[in-house]
Amino acid sequence: MSPAPTSPAATPALAGFSGTILLLGAGKMGSAMLEGWLALGLGPDKIAVLEPQPTPETAALTARGLRLNPVRAALGEVSAVVLAVKPQTAPEAMPSLAPFVGAATVVVSIMAGRTLRFLEAALPPCAVIRAMPNTPAAIGRGITVAVGNPRVSPQQRELVHALLSAVGTVEWVTDEALMDAVTAVSGSGPAYVFLLAEAMTKAGIAAGLPGALAATLARATVAGSGELLHRSPLDAATLRQNVTSPGGTTAAALDVLMGKDGLDRLMTDAIAAATRRSRELAG
Ligand SMILES: NC(=O)c1ccc[n+]([C@@H]2O[C@H](COP(=O)([O-])OP(=O)(O)OC[C@H]3O[C@@H](n4cnc5c(N)ncnc54)[C@H](OP(=O)(O)O)[C@@H]3O)[C@@H](O)[C@H]2O)c1
Repeated sequence: MSPAPTSPAATPALAGFSGTILLLGAGKMGSAMLEGWLALGLGPDKIAVLEPQPTPETAALTARGLRLNPVRAALGEVSAVVLAVKPQTAPEAMPSLAPFVGAATVVVSIMAGRTLRFLEAALPPCAVIRAMPNTPAAIGRGITVAVGNPRVSPQQRELVHALLSAVGTVEWVTDEALMDAVTAVSGSGPAYVFLLAEAMTKAGIAAGLPGALAATLARATVAGSGELLHRSPLDAATLRQNVTSPGGTTAAALDVLMGKDGLDRLMTDAIAAATRRSRELAG
């Protein structure tokens, strides 16, 4: 089995890009995207950042041409704005954005729960994309789901696809209502996987293992299985069946996990609860 690439290949949309990308908010997610763009060969001179408290890494990029907290007049036309501030900061941050948005600008928000309608109301008329990444973006292995308003042109979609691909895989939907379930599955999903490692640790201790060994086994098993799933062409069910001998130890555990009130039921309830909460928060 050949290893899957850990970062996507440079896409033509970024390699030949000659405009300006403006990043609003270079915190955890914004910095991960910035690093991803640079890794894909986007020149720092093509990037401007608005960030009140830049990290030393971001500030150091000014020596390579990155423009930090520029005034509008210094930028010229901005091709894309990436909005990566916390959702609760949006009402305060969005007005500072408006002067940078022209008729040809596409604005991409990665803010959880902020709808296209909210974004459109806070901006001059322009192409707007709402995207939902997840935390593995920090290591270039996120998955982002995006939806655009009708003003997004095919070229803008291609540019945004390339920008989001810098931190992992990108999927597009046309129905914004799906974003609540997307948030529940992939946005919140990393926490479910971390919980699995926690639960396996506790169960290992209950079965007699020393705590440190149980934690090491659980962590390595979750990480290794995730990597196997990532690299394998087989789906999760087939990989599971491949490690389950009839009447064996795995089958004994799966009888419990796949029982009537087992993991399927729990996960369905959990994702339904997260979907409902996402709808409530979006208002
Ligand atoms: N982290 C995730 O796993 C994840 C997953 C999916 C979606 N998202 C979304 O990604 C967004 C960013 O999350 P994060 O975890 O990266 O948050 P974060 O680390 O707090 O980053 C936000 C950054 O924006 C800066 N900022 C605040 N007000 C600003 C303004 N008016 N103008 C310019 N910059 C401003 C903040 O500076 P200060 O520190 O000075 O406030 C901070 O550096 C959120 O909307 C979140 O919903 C995150």
